[in-house]
Amino acid sequence: MRKPFVAGNWKMHKTVTEARHFVSELVPALQVIEGVDRVICPPFPSLLAVAALLEGTDVQLGAQNMHWEASGAFTGEVSPTMLAELCQYVIIGHSERRTYFGETDETVNRKMHSALTYNLTPILCVGETLEQYEAGQTREVVFRQIKLGLADLELSDGNAIVVAYEPIWAIGTGRASTADAANAVISDVIRVALAEMFGDEIAQAVRVLYGGSVKGNNAAEFFSQPDIDGALVGGACLKVGDFTQIVQAATRS
Ligand code: PGA
Repeated sequence: MRKPFVAGNWKMHKTVTEARHFVSELVPALQVIEGVDRVICPPFPSLLAVAALLEGTDVQLGAQNMHWEASGAFTGEVSPTMLAELCQYVIIGHSERRTYFGETDETVNRKMHSALTYNLTPILCVGETLEQYEAGQTREVVFRQIKLGLADLELSDGNAIVVAYEPIWAIGTGRASTADAANAVISDVIRVALAEMFGDEIAQAVRVLYGGSVKGNNAAEFFSQPDIDGALVGGACLKVGDFTQIVQAATRS
């Protein structure tokens, strides 16, 4: 049984002050929901303050990106060792990183290795562009992203990583994938690639999320699919009520 998992990616939203207020309201609402792993991923400046607020709760913390080196002359970057003191998770290879900041499958792969080395659980994002979707290339694109992103990794068990399937055309657009189609990509492409690389047992144990315009009113439909284990949520994670509704929907999956 894979435990449902819902992560909120705040992206570049909320100051430290706003983050403190928000988390103070969010945590009591999330704490009463059981049986779902709940992770929030604020921007770097808020991680320390939010980590303090999450202490003693079972809401977990993630970062949105990191460098692969532990330290060094990399102005403006944040390392896995810095994050490991604060967070349990880190999002790797989000499509906005790939599109606007030049991340490639190769840099994603380096970050995946590094996250595991420094005891962070990486949430690997994969997904096709609108152009690739319309050209019928979804399966080959996602398969390649999994193979290259996870190349040469050794996984001790399925909980060492989380994968998020996020069709780029569905992110922030209000145009979510259908639940059936997302489930098919996860079962026929992502789990197949994982099985080839790590064996069936691990492929069946890895949590795979759907992301892209998940809202309170469509989350349950995604979570009712057999191969969708939760969601990576952008816009709807910025409001306590919306995010709580999505986490609540995951308890029934
Ligand atoms: P969205 O973003 O929920 O706003 O579509 C999802 C994501 O980028 O992870």
